[in-house]
Amino acid sequence: MSDTRPRRTFAVISHPDAGKSTTTEALALHARVITEAGAVHGKGDRRATVSDWMAMEKARGISITSAALQFVYHDHVINLVDTPGHSDFSEDTYRVLSAVDSAVMLVDAGKGLEPQTLKLFKVCALRGIPVITVINKWDRPGLSALELMDLIEKEIKLRPTPLTWPVGEAGDFRGVLDRRSGDFIKYTRTAGGATRAPEQRLAPDEVDENDAQVWADAVEEHELLSLDGADHDQDRFLAGETTPVMFASALQNFGVAQLLDLLLELAPGPSPTLGVDGSVREPQDDFSAFVFKVQSGMNNAHRDRLAYARVVSGTFERGMVVTHAGSGRPFATKFAQAVFGRETTSVEYAEPGDIIGFVNAQALRVGDTVYVGDPIEFPPVPSFAPEHFMAASARDIGRYKQFRRGIEQLDQEGVVQVLRSDLRGDQSPVLAAVGPMQFEVVEDRMANEFNSPIRLSRLDYKVARRTDATGATALAGVRGVEVLQRSDGSHLALFVDQWRANVTARDNPEIMLEALPAGGV
Ligand code: G4P
Repeated sequence: MSDTRPRRTFAVISHPDAGKSTTTEALALHARVITEAGAVHGKGDRRATVSDWMAMEKARGISITSAALQFVYHDHVINLVDTPGHSDFSEDTYRVLSAVDSAVMLVDAGKGLEPQTLKLFKVCALRGIPVITVINKWDRPGLSALELMDLIEKEIKLRPTPLTWPVGEAGDFRGVLDRRSGDFIKYTRTAGGATRAPEQRLAPDEVDENDAQVWADAVEEHELLSLDGADHDQDRFLAGETTPVMFASALQNFGVAQLLDLLLELAPGPSPTLGVDGSVREPQDDFSAFVFKVQSGMNNAHRDRLAYARVVSGTFERGMVVTHAGSGRPFATKFAQAVFGRETTSVEYAEPGDIIGFVNAQALRVGDTVYVGDPIEFPPVPSFAPEHFMAASARDIGRYKQFRRGIEQLDQEGVVQVLRSDLRGDQSPVLAAVGPMQFEVVEDRMANEFNSPIRLSRLDYKVARRTDATGATALAGVRGVEVLQRSDGSHLALFVDQWRANVTARDNPEIMLEALPAGGV
């Protein structure tokens, strides 16, 4: 039978090295899914996101896909959706964030707000995703807590509302003051954080003499924060005006249980979702889901193409016949079995908030909707303005078929945007990326997965604007601009620089030349 326990579907996001993998492990540890952290602690295995999950799954026997980790905590089902770490994949992150109801932002206490932290906060704001902020690595020397609050307020324009406040400065982490109860949650260090860190809840009059001074400091700062109005307000949090903050050391497993408790208490569950025509799908309505990620060749044993979808409404049952909103065609999920983790485990049921992977459902693309009952189509995920462009061709002309198949697959997955024109022909499409690392992925996968090594030659364009068929005709032959078509049918005009784009727009006011959302946000 379907498991209808309440869902919390969220992503942990951060600048690389702030502790995302460590936190993920610690979360699963506290959820009592796994018994002891540490064994997976080899950086080598954790470098690539995909292998992170796979390695963890192997070592722990927990339910993981390369897209989501699912576990039970205090009678809730938690779906932790994975996001790519590097800023070059911001488009991917943006898509993945369309599948979550909230985000946990990790900030390295020693480094403060880093470039990727700022970008991700903006992405969350754009998508209207409430963010819980975790100041991590408090066991190491770092900035002062008040200073960090100041940075969040000034640079992100979000009001930080700390729910816990550190007792002891960064590097001397004794525990936290629970700002709502006034209690001291005292931590006891364990060797390497190998087991769940014992936490002791003490009333203020039970605070040990050794901690008296740091406790008094924490109380004073907590009172200052209250005077300043920095207390949690659920409505403002959900409206994206404030971010609850807590202090942790993922490595020591400090604060991780509190984070889980907060997710249950404050983070929103699945909510009604708006379709493109303005209709609303309530979580209890008929089944619907949208595809936020398509991936193939995730590991050597698993060559299938998986289309990951988030359940928006209703209960998914394996074998269900659903309608593909784009084509209006029915498709049977009994052939497109939904899986979690290794291919042997299949999901029989899924509820709103859960992530299901449709196996080899070739028709499904990123942004697609599938449904049962009343038709619904969810808004497409916008693509970002590419800033890097390469002409691609097969190194070996004899492998043209593999080349075409590979490019098409990578296009569908959204690894890069693929642009074509009659002039360049199908043999030499233009690959457009938000970040240059996307090209490395293409080169690697074309060679190893599709058996067609490719040649990439850099094109001198830096700016893309959206135009239409009329614009494409009008711009043909204009100097310094080339118009190509994306596989979704839209036309992109590429310019060597911003200046040229602006001048062309000014001189041709009748031509549509629309800016795309910036990838760097
Ligand atoms: P990421 O996924 O966000 O990139 O970060 P990851 O968890 O890999 O953590 C990056 C480094 O920071 C790791 O150290 C990790 O052990 C350390 N770290 C994470 N959380 C904490 C914390 O709360 N306190 C302290 N002191 N360190 C933390 P590394 O040396 O790069 O790797 P490893 O050899 O320890 O695995």
